[in-house]
Amino acid sequence: MPAPHEFVVVANRLPADIRVDEEGNVSSTPAPGGLVTALAPVMRAQDGAWVGWSGSADQLLDPFDADGMHLVPVPLSEQEVARYYEGFSNATLWPLYHDVIVPPEFHRIWWNSYVEVNRRFAEAAAGTAEKGATVWVQDYQLQLVPEMLRRLRPDVRIGFFDHIPFPSVELFGQLPWRRQVIEGLLGADLIGFQRTGDAANFLRAVRRFTSHSTRGQQITIGQHWNRPERHVRVGTFPISIDSQKVDQLARTEKITKRAAQLRTELGDPDVLMLGVDRLDYTKGIRHRIKAFGELVAEKKVTVPRTALVQVASPSREQVEQYKTLRQEVEVMVGNINGDHGSWGRSAIYYMHHSYPFEEMVALYRAADVMLVTALRDGMNLVAKEYVAARPDLGGALVLSEFAGAADELSHALLINPHDIEGMKEAILKAATMGPAEQRRRMRTLRKRVLENDVQSWAKKFLSVLQNMPQRTSHV
Ligand code: G6P
Repeated sequence: MPAPHEFVVVANRLPADIRVDEEGNVSSTPAPGGLVTALAPVMRAQDGAWVGWSGSADQLLDPFDADGMHLVPVPLSEQEVARYYEGFSNATLWPLYHDVIVPPEFHRIWWNSYVEVNRRFAEAAAGTAEKGATVWVQDYQLQLVPEMLRRLRPDVRIGFFDHIPFPSVELFGQLPWRRQVIEGLLGADLIGFQRTGDAANFLRAVRRFTSHSTRGQQITIGQHWNRPERHVRVGTFPISIDSQKVDQLARTEKITKRAAQLRTELGDPDVLMLGVDRLDYTKGIRHRIKAFGELVAEKKVTVPRTALVQVASPSREQVEQYKTLRQEVEVMVGNINGDHGSWGRSAIYYMHHSYPFEEMVALYRAADVMLVTALRDGMNLVAKEYVAARPDLGGALVLSEFAGAADELSHALLINPHDIEGMKEAILKAATMGPAEQRRRMRTLRKRVLENDVQSWAKKFLSVLQNMPQRTSHV
């Protein structure tokens, strides 16, 4: 049994890459995501623990300490990876919550596995939290954990943050287990969303599919058997990045030199455009490539004076819709390069792998135009990273209004990625934008991103959660 902790994060993934050698020795390297950056100081100050999956099937690991944090691995069998992770999380909930861009699949065996795995996470959290601890559950993979944990540990404060969109009630209503998911979430004291629209959709779903009453941002759960009446609060907390870190990195000589070198390696184009995404159908990569391909075909931009770098990092590769997307994107890139490339020069430089963060910051620094064309996205941190990586006030951001980031980054060139002509116009405008307009827009964008960083996001959420009236525990 691990020692009890005052602060517990519960997320599908642990913030570390774990390796086990042939003798069974475990070693880990930190996986520096935005979430862990935000929470690391809180974890250290409050003796925090992180409950999550290692990312490999059938790995039975004891809790261990890494990078000043206590990690509690939750094992998943191969079948659970297929049913809970690839199935219900990423082929049911993910497409359903992203406006059914691809059709979600509803399978009872996937749902059963989701329930079982959520219970395992709840039990691990219950065994890790000290009396009266704060437990912060993350994202769509674990929506049943708040209620399951509340039953096990009525003494702890529970927060939940949904990193992805919460869909309209008409779409959410398709889910055969819609009521159970809502009740699962309502086990939390505070439920956070990225956009006000997500919070409003959730409140509407509560009214439609449960009998709980809502008033403003508060839901009242009536007294039931030995469970007293209680209130759940809903709020909007747009997530961010470690803006200072990106800004400072982007100012270093190493990065500015690498940015210049990258431009040289890419044939010194007049205009370098950039897309950076997980290879996911929500990101609008096909729409973006279509728009770029048409601009080239219509000679509105010329190759190699204009080049597009598309970094598409591999993601969820066992899920069918991701395999299809990869083929479609690669055929499109191949067609455009076949038609418009020349020896040693491509129209599109397409990379299906990940890069170290420093290389990404150098790419951001090098790119004249950043294309974020998501069809639906909870926030999109790439947009914020690009802005933070431009202390020189150069570059132009083309940003989809369907990304959560658009609420804050209204000084970007906002687009509807379904409107290919509109997107082409915005891309051309970005490509020809003068330095004065770039500077004016970038200054406003940077103010938002530097003021609202991921540390302040975590602080705001936790201060609302921790200032809520203390729970009266019951028998
Ligand atoms: C999104 C989700 C995260 C998830 C990440 C990577 O950002 O909101 O919860 O961890 O994608 O996806 P993966 O399936 O590889 O964890």
